[in-house]
Amino acid sequence: MVTALGTDVREMSGTFAFPTRIEFGAGVVEKLPGLLAGIGVKHPLVVTDAGLVKVGLLGSITGPLDRAGMKWTLFDGVEPNPTEKSVFPGVDAYRAAGCDGIVAVGGGSAIDAAKAIRLKIHHPQPLEIFDDTQDGGRFVTANLPPMVAIATTSGTGSEVSRSTVIHLESNNRKTVIFSPYLIPTIAVADPALTAGLPPALTAYTGADALTHNVEAYLSKGFHPIADPLALRGVQLVGRYLRRAVRQGDDLEARAQMMIASMLGAIAFQKGLGATHSLAHPLSSICGLHHGLSNAIMLPHVLEFNKPHRTRRLADLAEALEASTLDAPTEEVARAGILALSTLLHDVGIPTRLSDVGVREEHVPKLVAQAVEDGCHQLNPRPCTAEDFERLYRAAL
Ligand SMILES: [Fe+2]
Repeated sequence: MVTALGTDVREMSGTFAFPTRIEFGAGVVEKLPGLLAGIGVKHPLVVTDAGLVKVGLLGSITGPLDRAGMKWTLFDGVEPNPTEKSVFPGVDAYRAAGCDGIVAVGGGSAIDAAKAIRLKIHHPQPLEIFDDTQDGGRFVTANLPPMVAIATTSGTGSEVSRSTVIHLESNNRKTVIFSPYLIPTIAVADPALTAGLPPALTAYTGADALTHNVEAYLSKGFHPIADPLALRGVQLVGRYLRRAVRQGDDLEARAQMMIASMLGAIAFQKGLGATHSLAHPLSSICGLHHGLSNAIMLPHVLEFNKPHRTRRLADLAEALEASTLDAPTEEVARAGILALSTLLHDVGIPTRLSDVGVREEHVPKLVAQAVEDGCHQLNPRPCTAEDFERLYRAAL
């Protein structure tokens, strides 16, 4: 039965869950020893990347552990866009040191690698078994060591998400593993840790948060809890990303972006869309930052999706404070896409793939991987290989 608002009541059914314990606020990282003790961890493996150690951020995490006299072991071998090489040596380090829990510190790469390390501790199967496109999440059990995830960027929201993305060499693509058990036991969201993030990385990671919220809101499926979270996430990015990029130590902007990032990750339990399917190969094949790839592709995908999600794009315009009262929905939807593009431009993100080293000859390979990627299954408009090719070429 379709109501006056255009909803088919038969589609109003679904299974909902909400994520994990979140410790939020500037300085909360100081509580880490107590948090670990509370979940029975005496000797964590601290998983991060060498870059984070180099910029001196690790001390903010290990300092409190040292002051509390807690033993810890460092694994800083996580690569950007992590592969098995970021996972197996971490599993070995965990076992060799006799660790009993994991502390992940970083952006999406470090937290995702840590989730895969955590999974491998008691799950001996090869990682490709867990591939979400093969419904591999059913092989993930609750038998995982406790984990605290500490975010140092506001982008992936991996600290509160139930997925990890690892580029597997066996299938040469970014592989998503998805299970409610993968949500970290505790997420630590301390905006002060993001204050030193350079403007470009702030913009790229912020664009990832924006894309999660936008794609979740437009994606197929019924999740009435995810929808308002996604709209609020878009609104926060619209209000605070420019400030966070312009002035890194603006803690209010940093805190709001961290909330937007978590809202995005919670909202995309509902699903993502074609932007992520186009973005994943740009990282795998051309080595682009994930957030940058999303940012360049997002306006093109929104144009592509517009005929199928006009009303929802108009809602996004409202969230971005770009809606004109009484204008036809179609016009408001267009204003929404323009507002998103303007925001991405204002924070200094390039608009063309050719500006960041992607060339014509990359397109066939990119298309082949985008088709294989699972995210577009929930895109509001079905995508063929020809569509992906058109979208990449439009962005070149
Ligand atoms: Fe993403």
